[in-house]
Amino acid sequence: MRLIEPVAIVDVTPDSFPDACAGLGLDESKCYTDTDRALEENKADFVIVSSPTQFHEEAVDSAIRHEVDMLIEKPIAHTMEACCRIHRKVTEAGRKAAVVMSHRFDQDKQSLERMIKSGDHGKLDYLIGRNTWACRRVGTWGPEHRYRKPDVLLTEGTVHHFDIIRSLTGSNARTMHAITWNPDWSEFDHDAQALILMEMENGVKAMYEGAMTNATTLNNWLDEYFRAECENATLELDHRKLRHLSDLDGERKIREIPLAQQEFWLDTWITKMFVDWLLGGPEPPNSLDDNIQCAAMLYAAIESSHSGKIVDVQKFLRRHM
Ligand SMILES: NC(=O)c1ccc[n+]([C@@H]2O[C@H](COP(=O)([O-])OP(=O)(O)OC[C@H]3O[C@@H](n4cnc5c(N)ncnc54)[C@H](O)[C@@H]3O)[C@@H](O)[C@H]2O)c1
Repeated sequence: MRLIEPVAIVDVTPDSFPDACAGLGLDESKCYTDTDRALEENKADFVIVSSPTQFHEEAVDSAIRHEVDMLIEKPIAHTMEACCRIHRKVTEAGRKAAVVMSHRFDQDKQSLERMIKSGDHGKLDYLIGRNTWACRRVGTWGPEHRYRKPDVLLTEGTVHHFDIIRSLTGSNARTMHAITWNPDWSEFDHDAQALILMEMENGVKAMYEGAMTNATTLNNWLDEYFRAECENATLELDHRKLRHLSDLDGERKIREIPLAQQEFWLDTWITKMFVDWLLGGPEPPNSLDDNIQCAAMLYAAIESSHSGKIVDVQKFLRRHM
């Protein structure tokens, strides 16, 4: 049985309709350039908002007008103000919304999270994360518009890693210090490299390295590096291999840990959790209410990188709510 049944497609560019119809098994008569009209003419339970981020809010407004729930692509919106407006409107309307934060719900990251949270390895002290690529030339990382976008590394890439850092540390962020820059050899118009230091509200420290313009891709999408330094073990995830390391018995012991198993991961799991919620199940961990904390990390990082200051993330969020 299919989890969801698409009923209509909305895009402002009709060129995309033939591919979208073929992919979703829909007739061309179900293609619209206007969200309100699509929702007036078709009965829907929810919409998936996957337009460019600056257009998310208008899609959310339309969904609220037509009393349907929403699964929204990350990030929630293009500014902290817009994220908070969306959060407020959805809450006031009593609608359900969740955010597609796919990489956090990947098998390897979930396996590491479950190991840390098992408590078997002692208290988590600090976390290191890395996602570094060799894609400095236009066209090597998706469409050209990415190379023209301000804060592109943080909004397109690091936002996923902020949410992974929240889930691995089991905490929201307290402080954010982001240093970003754009090297001479980059074809990006704006900063595409970042070194970021965070303290989480539970005291765990985290450090993140993100780069688009390196000479080598060390840890690509889905192959990210995360290392959790726990009291009794170093838990290391690298290229989807999870290892438990410890020298505490006098010599280095290394164990490979099999990844957790379940039926669905990534977007399929996210969609299933969302649909279960609509059917009366529990609120998923990527609900809008939860994800506003990820948005706060993202836009606090942008504020930190622009101002050169350490940002108090919770104060920053309260200021915009
Ligand atoms: N979860 C992930 O891993 C992931 C990966 C890539 C992109 N994204 C997110 O998905 C969203 C789309 O990103 P993209 O790079 O695919 O964008 P894109 O520029 O490729 O646009 C996607 C589609 O939206 C259409 N569109 C443009 N304006 C619209 C509007 N006002 N209403 C309806 N449709 C409109 C475009 O014609 C295009 O077909 C963004 O929010 C982005 O951050 C998420």
